[in-house]
Amino acid sequence: MTRITIQDLSAYKSRGERFAMLTAYDYLTASIFDRAGIPLILVGDTLGIFVQGHNTTLPVTLDAMIYHCEIVSRAVKNALVIGDLPFGSYSTLTDGIRNAGKLIKDGGVQAVKLEGCHDELVRHLTQGGIPVMGHLGLTPQSYHQLGGNKVQARTKADVKTLIQNALSLESAGAFAILLEAVPSAAARGVTETLKIPTIGIGAGPSCDGQVLVSTEMLGLHAGQSPRFVKQYAQLHTSITEATERFAEEVRDGIYPGSEESYNWALR
Ligand code: KIV
Repeated sequence: MTRITIQDLSAYKSRGERFAMLTAYDYLTASIFDRAGIPLILVGDTLGIFVQGHNTTLPVTLDAMIYHCEIVSRAVKNALVIGDLPFGSYSTLTDGIRNAGKLIKDGGVQAVKLEGCHDELVRHLTQGGIPVMGHLGLTPQSYHQLGGNKVQARTKADVKTLIQNALSLESAGAFAILLEAVPSAAARGVTETLKIPTIGIGAGPSCDGQVLVSTEMLGLHAGQSPRFVKQYAQLHTSITEATERFAEEVRDGIYPGSEESYNWALR
């Protein structure tokens, strides 16, 4: 099997073929997703929340992103791997160009994602050979500016701006746009206007692709999830039950039994 490319994504859109993306932060889950046929794997800065235990993505450093990109990239053979540029790493054109290059060179990803309408930066990166996924709607790195993680593009005027921003990123060379937490009608407007694919999270059914944060999709995360999350497994419960059984069996002298022991006669 050959690796998924940004050209494959554009072919998906022309054929009207929907596709899935998942976040991954470590080797094991990334290999499972890759073998299960997920075409796009995002090393998201949500690792700040689901791996590092922060309340927002803001504290995530470029070094942490490179570390996780590198281990995910080592696991993935077929999917296109995209690395998030973390908060503060692309505040200037020079920083953005240098740090996107680091994610590709040191992190081993094939593309980067960045939040907001940084069309000039996107133009520089794509002209320099770095594929870029845009991210509009709710942009969690602007948590303080937005006053929290709230649904965006609620008015016709906001939707107009959203479409304009998406078009600017498309003309700058972005290969796809992630749309987060916007009404379905807004996402439909963007998807129908753009030639490049949209990938939705909390953006309704009209997007060309759908992404979920894997820890939420797998039910590993015990806390409250937004309404758009669908849990396809309850790993939190399975892991809790397995852990409790292990501790109980150790206490009761059931584990390790004969089957789990080296019953060799000593010489
Ligand atoms: O960083 C991330 O995990 C994201 C999600 C919204 C998919 O961008």
